[in-house]
Amino acid sequence: MSRIAYVNGLYVPHLAAAVHIEDRGYQFSDGVYEVIAVHKGKLIDMDGHMVRLTRSLSELEMAWPVGPKALDIIIRQVIARNRIRDGIVYMQITRGVAPRNHAFPDHHNSALVITAKRFPTFNFDAANKGVDVISTPEIRWQRRDIKTVSLLGNCLAKEKAARAGAYEAWFVEADGMVTEGTSSNAWIVTADGKLVTRDTSNSILNGITRLSILKLAKQQGVEFVERAFSLEEAKAAKEAFVSSTTSFVKPVLHIDGDPVGDGKVGALTTKLLAYYGDYLKAQAA
Ligand code: PDD
Repeated sequence: MSRIAYVNGLYVPHLAAAVHIEDRGYQFSDGVYEVIAVHKGKLIDMDGHMVRLTRSLSELEMAWPVGPKALDIIIRQVIARNRIRDGIVYMQITRGVAPRNHAFPDHHNSALVITAKRFPTFNFDAANKGVDVISTPEIRWQRRDIKTVSLLGNCLAKEKAARAGAYEAWFVEADGMVTEGTSSNAWIVTADGKLVTRDTSNSILNGITRLSILKLAKQQGVEFVERAFSLEEAKAAKEAFVSSTTSFVKPVLHIDGDPVGDGKVGALTTKLLAYYGDYLKAQAA
């Protein structure tokens, strides 16, 4: 079955899907996006993703391409037309096509592209395998709270991780504090068993998975604190993991080659992965 993409009002074969060369997303990375997981045909944390999209658009003074209700319908159409049971939906909104000029165009014709991709059904046992991360200097701009398609710093760091045989790179600021991963949030578990992830500010993207994990930790009585932690503290931590829409909860076994704790998947990380699995199942029920 051929894949179908939605491009500015039309459902087209994925291979033929295209936007104009003067789309501002192409020329200035003037756009925002969301990645939403689909589990057993259901959109996961749709409300959270729509809240974040609304905020991203508003922070960049970008117009909605269609209203939120229409957007919801189109997303579900793309899932249906691609017969996605387990996978992701990718949605991108740019400021649209205009003659190249850095200042905003007069029009408000935002462009909308939506694609969907199948993933193998999520296997929580296999997921609990663990990955390695490396550290890399924080070189990105100061508005990482906006989910923009300006991801060059993230791409450079992810490539560095890939070349080092690692799954993810954690950005570290000049003061030694970790911000987040290139496409995930960063977490540690301290020696006394406390869950730690960076507090929200312009420094990190407030992950929807991050928010769900915090909600689950609260419900389950897991002690947590939202604060910055240093690379040094992470390397000395008992456990570490990353979270994202596509990684869910992924244990981190090594940072820059140094083992985290005993270099094995941690007990609290395993528990959180199980809570997250139940949370997904409940939404897909
Ligand atoms: N990335 N931080 C960054 C820089 C990210 O790009 C992402 C997600 C996250 C986690 O956010 P969430 O839990 O809402 O997925 C944190 C997506 C998956 C991507 O770019 O593909």
